[in-house]
Amino acid sequence: MCIFVAFTFLGILFCGRGQSLECPFGCECFAITRSVKCVSADLPTLPQSIPGYARTIIVTGNNIQRIEADSFTQLDNVTNIILSNNRISEMASHSFSALINLRFLDLSGNQLALIHPQALSIPGSPLQELNLSCAVFNFSALTDLTTALRWGGLRGLLRLDLSGNNLALLPPGMFSHLPNLQQLFLRNNSLVMVYSGTFSGTNNLELLDLSNNAFRTFDADTLQELGKLGNIRILLGENPYTCSCEIRAFVIWLNESKADVDVESVRCTSPKKLTDAQLRGLGEDAIGCVAPVQGEVTDLTLQTSYVFLGLVLGFVGMVFLFVLYLNRKGMKKWIIEMRDACRDVLAGYHYRYEIDTDPRRTSGSISSDVCVIRKSLCRYMAYGPIIPMGIDILLICSGQ
Ligand SMILES: *[C@@H]1O[C@H](CO)[C@@H](O)[C@H](O)[C@H]1NC(C)=O
Ligand SMILES: *[C@@H]1O[C@H](CO)[C@@H](O)[C@H](O)[C@H]1NC(C)=O
Ligand SMILES: *[C@@H]1O[C@H](CO)[C@@H](O)[C@H](O)[C@H]1NC(C)=O
Ligand SMILES: *[C@@H]1O[C@H](CO)[C@@H](O)[C@H](O)[C@H]1NC(C)=O
Ligand SMILES: *[C@@H]1O[C@H](CO)[C@@H](O)[C@H](O)[C@H]1NC(C)=O
Repeated sequence: MCIFVAFTFLGILFCGRGQSLECPFGCECFAITRSVKCVSADLPTLPQSIPGYARTIIVTGNNIQRIEADSFTQLDNVTNIILSNNRISEMASHSFSALINLRFLDLSGNQLALIHPQALSIPGSPLQELNLSCAVFNFSALTDLTTALRWGGLRGLLRLDLSGNNLALLPPGMFSHLPNLQQLFLRNNSLVMVYSGTFSGTNNLELLDLSNNAFRTFDADTLQELGKLGNIRILLGENPYTCSCEIRAFVIWLNESKADVDVESVRCTSPKKLTDAQLRGLGEDAIGCVAPVQGEVTDLTLQTSYVFLGLVLGFVGMVFLFVLYLNRKGMKKWIIEMRDACRDVLAGYHYRYEIDTDPRRTSGSISSDVCVIRKSLCRYMAYGPIIPMGIDILLICSGQ
């Protein structure tokens, strides 16, 4: 009994000291501000035995590769955790689920390559702000993250920072399980377009930052997607806009949009004559969209199709001549047979010709032409080479 009491006492003493009074190695603990700081201490893992009073935990500039499922326990006072620049590459399932009051999580400046689908799950969805700026290692990690955002039950999330991640595309529906999201930062990525459906489900969005990406223009899909967001604040500055006719739809959108866009920073990067010109208010002629230009474009396509047609016809002609050449013996035989046949009928046609041209007949002119042509065909068959045949026909017909 005595021993048990002594152990209990010692246990309480130890726990009290460990959790409330002592500070983990490499860290500084501030009971008054209820914060713990472990800054650039080269820690290989997250510190254990963080005092229970802590509300804010700042662990930055260390060498922590992995956040384990049990990295944080018994810390239900914690509301803010800053884990930036720790080289974290892996987040296990339920990494933060013991932190039932966690509102602010900063994972910026890490190299998250493996994110468990339930890494961000916390009972009661307390998380309001998640900073993943410069934290997503590559495209596979983005896919992992998309799953984690979906499975994490982050219904309370208000702010999400995904800036500086080299993102080239966003999976459609990536944010659809964040129904209360208000601010989405996607600046300093490599986005060139936005698929339709990318922002579906984010019905409470108030701020969307797409500045400093790789947008040259916005296609109809993207504009439609942005239009669905209504009159929110959208930052679109510092993109390499190319002010050619293709940007027309975007200029019209800027002209008419209800959204609160940072139009002052939305400027052309090229062509040279429009460098730094503000996009909103640009006229159709300024971006080279006037009718003659479109005419030239159609002319060019027409010319191209004519050239193509010519090539095809030329090819067909060559094949035809080649076939003729291969059949030259048969042809010669056929011509000789025709010539003999023509010689036989020539006299008959001659006779009909004389009847047809008789001035007493008035309705025979067509058959007379036919006769002349056929007669001349026979004459050619009897004597002439190929080309004079046509000329012969013409001469005789026009001579009528
Ligand atoms: C949280 O803080 C309160 C008040 O300071 C304290 O009584 C409680 O023990 C703390 N919780 C933990 C898990 O230490
Ligand atoms: C996220 O973290 C980065 C780097 O620490 C910081 O610059 C940025 O302002 C943070 N984002 C938000 C929305 O506070
Ligand atoms: C992303 O990085 C991880 C870890 O280095 C690697 O296994 C994976 O193949 C990479 N994925 C892509 C798409 O590059
Ligand atoms: C933009 O992102 C890159 C990483 O992709 C980062 O190195 C750079 O500091 C960021 N620039 C700004 C202005 O945030
Ligand atoms: C945008 O608006 C300006 C005037 O507000 C107008 O002159 C211009 O033609 C419009 N641009 C387009 C592409 O319609």
